[in-house]
Amino acid sequence: MFEAALAADAERVETCLGGIFDDLGQDTLSEAMRYAVLSGGKRLRAFLVLEGARLYGVRPQHADRAAAAVECIHAYSLIHDDLPAMDNDDLRRGKPTVHVKWDEATAILAGDALQTLGFQILASTRTAADANIRLRLITALAEAAGPRGMVLGQMQDIAAETAPQALSLQQITDLQANKTGALFTWAAEAGPVMGNANTGIMRAYAEAIGLAFQITDDILDVTGDPEKAGKRLNKDRAAGKATFVTLLGLDGARRKAAELVEEASDHLQSFGGTGDTLRQLARFIIEREM
Ligand code: IPE
Ligand code: IPE
Ligand code: MG
Ligand code: MG
Ligand code: MG
Repeated sequence: MFEAALAADAERVETCLGGIFDDLGQDTLSEAMRYAVLSGGKRLRAFLVLEGARLYGVRPQHADRAAAAVECIHAYSLIHDDLPAMDNDDLRRGKPTVHVKWDEATAILAGDALQTLGFQILASTRTAADANIRLRLITALAEAAGPRGMVLGQMQDIAAETAPQALSLQQITDLQANKTGALFTWAAEAGPVMGNANTGIMRAYAEAIGLAFQITDDILDVTGDPEKAGKRLNKDRAAGKATFVTLLGLDGARRKAAELVEEASDHLQSFGGTGDTLRQLARFIIEREM
């Protein structure tokens, strides 16, 4: 049931992205961008946008574009994360990474252009008629992705590889909230922002599942099946990286992730049964194998 809902929303956002790329053209840059954003992926951030939009009464055609925007930013972050200067990975979503399929310059530029495209999508009246809502979406995404969000988290993550002493639990939690949590939070808040509603519930929910998501990413790096994950695993240990797994052990990390799912579900109480899909998403995030 839940998997079917996830697949249906993935198709929605991919159709929307397909239309956006049809307008872009056929050059190498567009081809590399399209490859990065349309070659698989679970579409969890898109799903959060679309489900939040349903809960807050947002028009689907508006929600699709906000979902497309966050998937562009996410795809950009993955292209750059995989570069030789960062994680040096050759496989992503079961396919060669962009710098392997093309070259490093193309990968850097495709990432850059996906980033600006994400903001361009949000700036269009096709995403929201109200300019105030567009500005709120754009500002919040810049905050989530930028120097106090994802990029800072990536910087902290790289620094952790060579830190003289292992990071504390608090430091890892902060790092992960930036690196992965911030984009999840933006995605969850997009629905209430577009519906002109309070974002508090969705924010609290997203902060819990964002952390549970990254803890699970770290667990899968140790225990996962690379076939299913579609990316190289055992990278964190090889890099000497402190993660939730190195700090809490596998069982401790699993317990922490499960607690966060409970916490996330508790935040949804006021939705009653209409919050069930988000409760299922929280469970999926820690039970996934990819
Ligand atoms: C992978 O994210 C990168 C991290 C933020 C840990 P996802 O696991 O959501 O990747 P896709 O989009 O499904 O490929
Ligand atoms: C990537 O984190 C996070 C971002 C791209 C923001 P990881 O380096 O842990 O992701 P994977 O494991 O390569 O997917
Ligand atoms: Mg990384
Ligand atoms: Mg990586
Ligand atoms: Mg990882």
